[in-house]
Amino acid sequence: MLLTNHRLLLAARPSGIPSPANFTADAMPARTPGPGEVLLETVYLSIDPAMRSWMSEGTGYQPSVPLGEVMRGGGIARVLESRSEEFAPGDLAQARLGWQTHPTLAGRHLQKLDLTLGTAEDWIGPLGLSAVTAYFGMRDVGAIRRGDRVLVSAAAGGVGQIAVQIARIEGCRVVGIAGGAEKCAFVANELGADAAIDYRAEKNLSSAIARACPEGVDLYFDNVGGPTLDAALARLREDARVVLCGRISQTHATEPYGVRNLNRFAAVHGRMQGFLVFNYRERYDEARAWLAARRREGRLNQRLHVLQGLAQAPIGLGMLFRGENTGKLVVRL
Ligand SMILES: NC(=O)c1ccc[n+]([C@@H]2O[C@H](COP(=O)([O-])OP(=O)(O)OC[C@H]3O[C@@H](n4cnc5c(N)ncnc54)[C@H](OP(=O)(O)O)[C@@H]3O)[C@@H](O)[C@H]2O)c1
Repeated sequence: MLLTNHRLLLAARPSGIPSPANFTADAMPARTPGPGEVLLETVYLSIDPAMRSWMSEGTGYQPSVPLGEVMRGGGIARVLESRSEEFAPGDLAQARLGWQTHPTLAGRHLQKLDLTLGTAEDWIGPLGLSAVTAYFGMRDVGAIRRGDRVLVSAAAGGVGQIAVQIARIEGCRVVGIAGGAEKCAFVANELGADAAIDYRAEKNLSSAIARACPEGVDLYFDNVGGPTLDAALARLREDARVVLCGRISQTHATEPYGVRNLNRFAAVHGRMQGFLVFNYRERYDEARAWLAARRREGRLNQRLHVLQGLAQAPIGLGMLFRGENTGKLVVRL
């Protein structure tokens, strides 16, 4: 089989929001698999804010992608040819595929999808890493309790929409913060949040949170950091927990925002904790079994924002930082 592997290589480190100018495209014959390897056809690529840090030097929790190399990224692929005993043509697997259409990878770096849990769309969506992040963030780090008053930022996004639904499933009152009326309608009407706050339309976010959360906040799941985090801290209740999942609002800030309301933690005997989903990798199966069960019960959904074609991957990455995605951003190839 003569196949062409189309690739996107990191060509220049970004100074602001990433764009197609940071990448070059090339094409080469797909590599025939050696012993233990498989040739794959990429089906979905997941586009994640963390990729921005992988493009720069020394800013992330992982080594930066070297210039001239295929951009790093996870996704789902179909096996075309296999010289691994674990895989057969037609199998679906997830892996760090990179931004390329036909990678050849060692079978030991792939995880075969368990299709009894869900389809390929489920594995990139409600069973994917964003959903798994929300699971560990809400349950382990946030120690969610029935009846908690929960607040979630970037509530219409990949991680946020699962966090909102987990709060509902756990019998909590939940309020989502999102940018724009359309996203807020989605958070309230489709995700079932008790209220949604459009932070772009609010002059005083702290007052808006006070109105939407009249009894205060027991658990704040923070995806954005900066002034939103500060506004939420002002509303914490006794024994509150703040989960630092992400700080996307600060990615391109020239001066990092100095959080002012830290004194609330002493006043309410609260705590704030960050986490990295990769540190829970031994327990991904547990998370996916829980998420798949809630999905079967019809209580959990994940809206995907789907772009078509490899060339859209850099465009999609930029969209995350402008709030142009509604839902988990993926590229279908
Ligand atoms: N800790 C972990 O292991 C882990 C794992 C995965 C993701 N994360 C973090 O979780 C967060 C969400 O990731 P995701 O993949 O689900 O992305 P996402 O929420 O689907 O997309 C990013 C969203 O962030 C919001 N945003 C962008 N710039 C903003 C700004 N300046 N101020 C406020 N909001 C802004 C936008 O929503 P609005 O239009 O509503 O503003 C945008 O749609 C990110 O911070 C990411 O780094 C952490």
